[in-house]
Amino acid sequence: MPIALVTGANSGIGRATAIGLAGEGVHVIVASRSAERAQPVLDEIAAFGGSAEYLELDLSSMTSVRTASQSFADTRRNLDILVNNAGIGVNRRGLTEDGFEVHFGINHLGHFLLTRELFPNLGSGSRVVALASAMHFRADGIDFARVRHPTAFIGLAEYATSKLANVLFTRELARRRPGIRAYAVHPGLVRTRLIPGPIRVLSAPSMVSPEQGADTVLWCATSEDVASESGQYYQRRTRLPPSSQAQDDDLARELWERSEEWCG
Ligand SMILES: NC(=O)c1ccc[n+]([C@@H]2O[C@H](COP(=O)([O-])OP(=O)(O)OC[C@H]3O[C@@H](n4cnc5c(N)ncnc54)[C@H](OP(=O)(O)O)[C@@H]3O)[C@@H](O)[C@H]2O)c1
Repeated sequence: MPIALVTGANSGIGRATAIGLAGEGVHVIVASRSAERAQPVLDEIAAFGGSAEYLELDLSSMTSVRTASQSFADTRRNLDILVNNAGIGVNRRGLTEDGFEVHFGINHLGHFLLTRELFPNLGSGSRVVALASAMHFRADGIDFARVRHPTAFIGLAEYATSKLANVLFTRELARRRPGIRAYAVHPGLVRTRLIPGPIRVLSAPSMVSPEQGADTVLWCATSEDVASESGQYYQRRTRLPPSSQAQDDDLARELWERSEEWCG
């Protein structure tokens, strides 16, 4: 049975992705920072005869990321699919436990470390899907000083930067690990907790359900149609060019090298 790990699998797109994968006969590791919030997903998967287990993971703590990846690595199982889904949206401020601006620290750096620590379990043909966003088009590069000394007010610029980092990470992962298939996905505007209430109301007609948002994620994670591709950006099952900054190989390399340094 193939194995997938989905971060932030207790809510929104991650939850729909975990249930979708389990429905396709994949054993799903429901990674979440709360066993209590993950339980309903485990119950729902068990109810239709699917297979899943819980893994505690807090992406705002490198210690937690290392503990989680080590506990999976100790089982010596191959990881066929890693979905780096968890994330925080705007209206968030502050630093992670390790002193990084929260969007950058959780949305990018936590996932960078998780993926790197899981390299021994990611075999040839394993897939890594990153939940990016069309918001990455709004990013004005990556200010590497500011990710340690944030000035976030509403967090919009910080969120956009973290999503640019997700696309760059995917590009660089594909270059450094040709055996791994890496995909960055924009899920659409999805009706989840991540979207602030007023925007959810104003944008209601153009929003899609978490299941619809998870569709391209599941497609990248499992479809033969994309099996030969890596390092690209997708929306609605279509490969699209990301922003010019997201195609900047020097920036992708610099982000990777700095992330390695930061993660130790
Ligand atoms: N919704 C959209 O329109 C949209 C558009 C583009 C991209 N995306 C991306 O899609 C992904 C999923 O978001 P969503 O819309 O499904 O939002 P969501 O329902 O709020 O889900 C976010 C998930 O991330 C988890 N999470 C947050 N901080 C965490 C941490 N420190 N450690 C571990 N897990 C953490 C949350 O867990 P808790 O329950 O513990 O908080 C939750 O499970 C995000 O990466 C987001 O940027 C969403």
